[in-house]
Amino acid sequence: PSPRTYSIAAIPADGIGPEVIEAGIEVLSALAESLGSFAIDFTHYDWSSDTYKKTGKYIPDGGLEQLKKHDAIFFGAVGAPDVPDHISLWGLRLAICQPFQQYANVRPTRILPGISSPLRNCKREDLDWVIVRENSEGEYAGQGGRSHRGCAWETATEVAIFTRHGIIRLMRFAFETAQRRRRKMLTVVTKSNAQRNGMVLWDEVAAAVSKEFPDVTMDKMLVDAMTVRMVQKPESLDTIVATNLHADILSDLAAALAGSIGIAPTSNLDPTREHPSMFEPIHGSAFDITGKGISNPIATFWTAAEMLAWLGEDEASATLMKSVENICARGVVTPDLGGIAGTKEVTAAVLADIKGDS
Ligand code: NAI
Ligand code: MG
Repeated sequence: PSPRTYSIAAIPADGIGPEVIEAGIEVLSALAESLGSFAIDFTHYDWSSDTYKKTGKYIPDGGLEQLKKHDAIFFGAVGAPDVPDHISLWGLRLAICQPFQQYANVRPTRILPGISSPLRNCKREDLDWVIVRENSEGEYAGQGGRSHRGCAWETATEVAIFTRHGIIRLMRFAFETAQRRRRKMLTVVTKSNAQRNGMVLWDEVAAAVSKEFPDVTMDKMLVDAMTVRMVQKPESLDTIVATNLHADILSDLAAALAGSIGIAPTSNLDPTREHPSMFEPIHGSAFDITGKGISNPIATFWTAAEMLAWLGEDEASATLMKSVENICARGVVTPDLGGIAGTKEVTAAVLADIKGDS
């Protein structure tokens, strides 16, 4: 029988994005070949800051319609030194996340074998988290404006949007995520002492939704105290849910505590599966190391494993993570993790492990 075939859109975009996505495609293709149970058909989109500089657009007319035909999107990073970051982010990444209603951003964090946490007393089993970030509204909803430009009284507003609909759907997803994990614990992060409207609605919705999940233990934290708890009591946390802004910041801290931003994956999910979901490493385009051959491809490999799991290929996902863990344990890692290997060597080591000849 012909294997299941997935159609994946690859958007490597800027900086180290093309370096790590190329490595990710190589590894996914080798995995499909080695397991034989599925196949992947990649379609490459060259949407990037270069296309923006040439055409004035990141996504050409009709581009989103093309993307909709795929089963998933494998994304690198967007951002160039000569384009303002808010133009590149809104022009490409958010221009996909928002219309595709990828409202749940999922960021698993754990310490891989052989990798040490900057926390002196943190053992591997102490840090095993999934951060669920609200990905469609909050502080990044795109509401607000600027007036009286250049005047002394120039005014700018950034309006945070919180809707009952948006919070309920995200909160249900977070409880379901916690329910599937061994410890069944969910920590709801807000700032409902100072932000007394939207964050209080978050607290109320969390309390209501928690009644649908009696087997999940919920607790609440204010975001400032949460940073302290992540550092001092990492073992007390499991699944974490927070707003777009709060979780953006907390997940970078989480990645650093687990060893490096160069290993952290993220999924932008439409849990209704009406639109394709988008999978990307957490890191950006890292122009400081672009072209040097030292970008860490592990974040992209882990991202690929998350994408396989979302597509239902659990065995392939676990096989890929096992190979990543094996090469980390052997110390075949890039300089951000204290190693001396380059992107190509790490990729070759993972490929060899997948093929079983390492
Ligand atoms: P960054 O994540 O690109 O880099 C931060 C630091 O981490 C740099 O020192 C970089 O060398 C290092 N780093 C990142 N990924 C690495 C990897 N795979 N291997 C080894 N080291 C790695 O964040 P930064 O510098 O704040 O932003 C650079 C550009 O990327 C900006 O234009 C920003 O807007 C964009 N960006 C895009 C994101 C996306 O596409 N989702 C996310 C974050 C930033
Ligand atoms: Mg971020």
